[in-house]
Amino acid sequence: MLLLYMLPMAKGFKHQAFLVLAIILLLINQSEQLESSQTRTLLRVRSLLNYPDFLSGWNSTIDFCNTEPTSQVTVVCYEGSITQLHIIGSKGTPLLPKNFSMDSFVKALVKLPELKVLTLVSLGLWGPLPGKILHLSSLEILNMTSNSLYGTIPDELSSITSLQTLILDDNMFSGRLPEWLSLLPVLTVLSLRKNLFNGSLPESFTSLENLRVLALSHNHFYGEVPDLIRLTNLQELDLEDNAFGPRFPQLGNKLVRLVLGKNRFRSGIPSELSSYYQLEWLDLSFNRFVGPFPPSLLSLPSITYLNIADNKLTGMLFENTSCNVELEFADLSSNLLTGHLPTCLLDSKDRVSLYARNCLATENENQHPFSFCHNEALAVGILPHHKKSKTPKVALAMAISGGIVGGMVLLGLIFMFVRRSNADKTINKPTTRVIAEKATTVYSSKFLSDARYTSQTTKLGALGLPAYRTFSLEELEVATNNFHTTAFMGEGSLGQMYRGRLRDGSFVAIRCLKMKKSRSTQNFMHHVELISKLRHRHLVSALGHCFECYLDDSSVSRIFLIFEYVPNGTLRSWISGRDRCSLTWAQRISSAIGIAKGIQFLHTGIVPGVYSNHLKITDILMDQNLVAKISSYNLPLLAEIAGKVGHGTSAPPKDPSTSARVTYDDKVDVYDFGVILLEMILGRPSKSRNQVQVLKNQLEAIMATDDATRRRVADSTVRTSCSDQSLKTMMEICVRCLVKDPAERPSIEDVLWNLQFAAQVQDAWRVDSHSSEGSPISPCEPQHLHVAFR
Ligand SMILES: *[C@@H]1O[C@H](CO)[C@@H](O)[C@H](O)[C@H]1NC(C)=O
Ligand SMILES: *[C@@H]1O[C@H](CO)[C@@H](O)[C@H](O)[C@H]1NC(C)=O
Ligand SMILES: *[C@@H]1O[C@H](CO)[C@@H](O)[C@H](O)[C@H]1NC(C)=O
Ligand SMILES: *[C@@H]1O[C@H](CO)[C@@H](O)[C@H](O)[C@H]1NC(C)=O
Ligand SMILES: *[C@@H]1O[C@H](CO)[C@@H](O)[C@H](O)[C@H]1NC(C)=O
Repeated sequence: MLLLYMLPMAKGFKHQAFLVLAIILLLINQSEQLESSQTRTLLRVRSLLNYPDFLSGWNSTIDFCNTEPTSQVTVVCYEGSITQLHIIGSKGTPLLPKNFSMDSFVKALVKLPELKVLTLVSLGLWGPLPGKILHLSSLEILNMTSNSLYGTIPDELSSITSLQTLILDDNMFSGRLPEWLSLLPVLTVLSLRKNLFNGSLPESFTSLENLRVLALSHNHFYGEVPDLIRLTNLQELDLEDNAFGPRFPQLGNKLVRLVLGKNRFRSGIPSELSSYYQLEWLDLSFNRFVGPFPPSLLSLPSITYLNIADNKLTGMLFENTSCNVELEFADLSSNLLTGHLPTCLLDSKDRVSLYARNCLATENENQHPFSFCHNEALAVGILPHHKKSKTPKVALAMAISGGIVGGMVLLGLIFMFVRRSNADKTINKPTTRVIAEKATTVYSSKFLSDARYTSQTTKLGALGLPAYRTFSLEELEVATNNFHTTAFMGEGSLGQMYRGRLRDGSFVAIRCLKMKKSRSTQNFMHHVELISKLRHRHLVSALGHCFECYLDDSSVSRIFLIFEYVPNGTLRSWISGRDRCSLTWAQRISSAIGIAKGIQFLHTGIVPGVYSNHLKITDILMDQNLVAKISSYNLPLLAEIAGKVGHGTSAPPKDPSTSARVTYDDKVDVYDFGVILLEMILGRPSKSRNQVQVLKNQLEAIMATDDATRRRVADSTVRTSCSDQSLKTMMEICVRCLVKDPAERPSIEDVLWNLQFAAQVQDAWRVDSHSSEGSPISPCEPQHLHVAFR
């Protein structure tokens, strides 16, 4: 600077040179004054801090701007002004004496107005943080860790708009977090660990788009974490040891460190977590997370620390599951995991793996028997659900792994189809689309789409359905957009039916059953067991369930049953419906076979069998491949909820081995099947039981006549495309099913055998006569999902 000003002087402009010199002298003088004021300030700070040893070198002659930084004290200047001050005491520094005043301390500090970085760690500071701090208007980083400051964060701090980092860890601050934190335009790090803050996080945190670190561990925060998905820079979220929950927070997938341990989370683990490719540290321990543990977390590309200990996570592990090479620590202990420990967890000495207190097939760690995990899985999963509306009946969603299905008296799934034509008009509102889009962006990278593909395929069983599981209420709310009216499909005496779309894009039908009496989830365990087994190609299968409980006494308020969504209408709409093409004869036979197989499964495929299902043609749904599925079956659960069963709630289902009863119930379903078959043959519905008897008698009468007569009676749309023999066989079996005396009706096995015979002769006839090519009636083409939903 001096040199620059000297240059003109060398050129001989003396007057100007003197002027310049005078200015320089003035400037030097001023800066000396500034420095001495800074010096006074620092010495004042030293005295207010009660002359700690590590500041003993400070005296009035020191050039603070040119001192060597030490581990405890650093002063940084820029153009003569102090811009950074770091004073770090020793751990466990006692409180400053009684005559210390935080107010005077800050009053001294604000005389360093250029301060950008202020670190005051472990100095024994105590008292409320005075609002005067706002005079440090250039402050960018404030670190006051490990002191004894208390009270709330002063609102005045909100005017320091340059603040990027606020660290108040390990103090005694209390109260709620102020809303204005989200107004700090460049806030990047907010760390308030180990304080006494309470309340829930302000919704406005949703907009802290620059935030990189949010560390709130060891406080008394509670409630739902606001949606942080827009915080695309967030790398660290540490909420450990609070009372957050119950839902898993919505987060962006750039997280590096996610700590949710020791909270009140009770939901499932969202599948997106498997897409967090930068995640190194994941701690979900000591919560009540339920539902399947995604083994893909072990192989996240960056993961080094994974802790899911002490939850209620279920699922089967396989030896061949892979782990990320850098994984150093994995704690799976105290969950409900079954199967075999992945060998990758044991193959490295540098890797710490803990897995005790699960139900894994391993000898060297303390494990429970398989049945323990199975039963626990059926019994656990209280998910307290804080409704946004402040209803006193704040509900607890309770996830239990079992299931419950559709019903006898209740029209359950039927609604879906009876009302489908109306529903179609409203259902495809943008709501579902938004959800779908979210789901796809999550899996944008190739790595992830591959991971997703493999996990999907391994999850799907022979039925092409995912494993039966517990759903969280949160998941159902997302799937139905909070049970929005556009997802509503119908209502019955026991509750409503909704259509939902899960995160993976699949559609489900969600049946919501309202409890009339107060019961604990234990009362529903045997129902849940039964329902979880109701999975068959020809049943609208149960995918899972969810219990929602009242907070006060944990009794069940609602049960949600989740079924596969069968998109293609009822069988009736494919027979006598005006608006569709009509099934060919061969398609009718194969639908009949499907229904009979479904009935056979209900009777004999599960124990205890499910009888007297009051089957109606409108209960038979067609999927996108025109496979017939029975949608409404007689679950003891539904009778119980409807109060139709007098006996005790926990009474086991009736013993099916009482043979008289079995025979009777069995034949009730055979009769109902006969009614369905009648409509399939004649192509028109019968209105009453009487009419069924009349039609049955007519059929019986023409059995003795000739082929041509029988053909004339059959539905006109199949008349030309059915073989004589198959039509005769179908009519025969139909008549036999409709016999009045149940004992004389054929068994379902007998029915099935006859139908299969009819299919065979029809097939042979069709090949023989090439009639399918020449037929004026083209067979119905299976419709595809998108057609059905558009
Ligand atoms: C101030 O401290 C420096 C170094 O710590 C020392 O050299 C100097 O003598 C001290 N001056 C006074 C007046 O104490
Ligand atoms: C506070 O009291 C201590 C003695 O306990 C004394 O040495 C110190 O100078 C006092 N500080 C102030 C700022 O009055
Ligand atoms: C704040 O101070 C603590 C304690 O010295 C230190 O560990 C931490 O790194 C500091 N943070 C920042 C951002 O300076
Ligand atoms: C939150 O903390 C403040 C101050 O400690 C206290 O007065 C208040 O009652 C607490 N509120 C709740 C809901 O715990
Ligand atoms: C892992 O093992 C399971 C059962 O042992 C098997 O079904 C699965 O295909 C295997 N997966 C791979 C990737 O080898």
